[in-house]
Amino acid sequence: MPHDTILILDFGSQYSQLIARRVREQHVYCRLEPCSAPFETIQAIAPKGIILSGGPSSVWAPGAPSLDPRVLELGVPVLGICYGMQLLAQLAGGRVEGGHAGEYGPATIEIIEDTGKMPVPPFTPQVKSGGTGVPPVVGGLFAGCEPTEKVWMSHGDRVTALPPGAVATARTPTVEVAAFADPARRIYAVQFHPEVSHTPQGSRMLHNFLFDICGCRGDWTMASFIDEAVADVRQRVGADRVICGLSGGVDSTVVATLINRAIGGQLTCILVDNGVLRAGEAAEVVRMARDELGLNVDAVDASERFLRRLAGVADPEAKRLIIGDEFVRVFTEEAERIGGARFLAQGTLFPDLIESKSAFGGPSARIKSHHNVGGMPAWSQFELIEPLRELFKDEVRELGRELGLPHTVLHRQPFPGPGLAVRVVGEVTPSGLRILREADAIVQDEMRKWEGYGSIWQSFAVLLPVKSVGVMGDARTYDFAVAIRVVTSRDGMTADWARLPGDLLAWLSTRIINEVDGVNRVLYDISSKPPSTIEWE
Ligand code: XMP
Repeated sequence: MPHDTILILDFGSQYSQLIARRVREQHVYCRLEPCSAPFETIQAIAPKGIILSGGPSSVWAPGAPSLDPRVLELGVPVLGICYGMQLLAQLAGGRVEGGHAGEYGPATIEIIEDTGKMPVPPFTPQVKSGGTGVPPVVGGLFAGCEPTEKVWMSHGDRVTALPPGAVATARTPTVEVAAFADPARRIYAVQFHPEVSHTPQGSRMLHNFLFDICGCRGDWTMASFIDEAVADVRQRVGADRVICGLSGGVDSTVVATLINRAIGGQLTCILVDNGVLRAGEAAEVVRMARDELGLNVDAVDASERFLRRLAGVADPEAKRLIIGDEFVRVFTEEAERIGGARFLAQGTLFPDLIESKSAFGGPSARIKSHHNVGGMPAWSQFELIEPLRELFKDEVRELGRELGLPHTVLHRQPFPGPGLAVRVVGEVTPSGLRILREADAIVQDEMRKWEGYGSIWQSFAVLLPVKSVGVMGDARTYDFAVAIRVVTSRDGMTADWARLPGDLLAWLSTRIINEVDGVNRVLYDISSKPPSTIEWE
């Protein structure tokens, strides 16, 4: 039986993908579509439920995104979140007003919904429940919640009159309608964000929506994701050939393995030595991919041409764009060499899209051009295959586990596409790369020996374009400074600096200064993300 689908309509919130992830976590398949998706598309998806995301607009703004009112007549439960709630209120005949003080950040809601009269379904996140496929008539959105709950708010406008037939189901001290519902029309709405971790019972509320209100079965797994991705790749690619850039990181390795499963011999993986890889990396990745994973891999040493183009360039975005462009040139040449390839497969993840620009061209700011997103040059003829573009890193690791990838690949730390070029701050020079490689090898070596290594997201060295005075063996030195960056993170979107033991830091410093010619000072980066980023450029 095909699995249930929840449709998320994206109104431009940075959290839209987080909603998708929260739904997937409960083993329910979901699709994210722009809010402008035609009604016929929505109908064809035949969703068991629809979630309207938040968004930066006011429903009163000229050209504010809206929803085809026929969606509300489908008889499918609809949950509106934040902007989605205001839109639902407006479309269903209520009133939305601006001009009040907004609510941003933590708030406490008082639940008015009479959950006491309704049977409370068992709540076990990650475990499937339901099972009949028949929408049961049990509790509302807040079944199983306490009379007051902490939530995360972020809104300016508010609902000031309910649509006919709807009842308010929660309020805050400042907002009368923090949530409303019209069970007869199967409309549910919350002003706050249940998808963020700052709403501790948010997963329970989504669970109630998915299982009790929509009647989902919760039988979707990563194994089903693989089956669908494989079928999709086969169908798109047909008899054509695919080139896949392989870096050895978990993202590109998962993509290559997935596509290899789909089309086998039509796939050629390319490991590009772009001159800014870590020490010994290229050979090790090729060995692992060929011997352990049975992939068809070509190694291309393009280091000279990359470094030639990077010479004299100090601006971080310029460096990123050059590297992205040169990667595609190499892939294009390789495609010609193997007799033509129509597709280029990449391990783009959702956070890459958010930080390069919004997935749907929305209002979010460009933070960095991730090479595989911002750098796709207009001249390129490739059609992209990006099977992971809706996933977060930890989901990709789960997918890799399901695909049987070795532990060493699954738990390899992320390494950015532009490599050491974004860790030599400023201009990339051969001598700078030599210093950074040596310092970085020491950081990797010592971190791997440390018992807390498994809890670390990334650990690496950064070469700063700063010289300072030191004294070694009674002589004056005037050498560079190296920063050590070690962070913890769940998905790379936010991060904290790791509280490494002082002795470990001291030993790292001693080894780097003693062993790496050209360094006389070591710093430890104690910035979190935000406001910093993980990489320095
Ligand atoms: P930032 O520096 O943006 O990094 O906080 C977040 C995560 O993404 C990695 N990163 C990249 N990965 N291509 C990639 O594939 C890139 O251009 C890129 N830039 C940063 C970074 O290492 C961290 O894990």
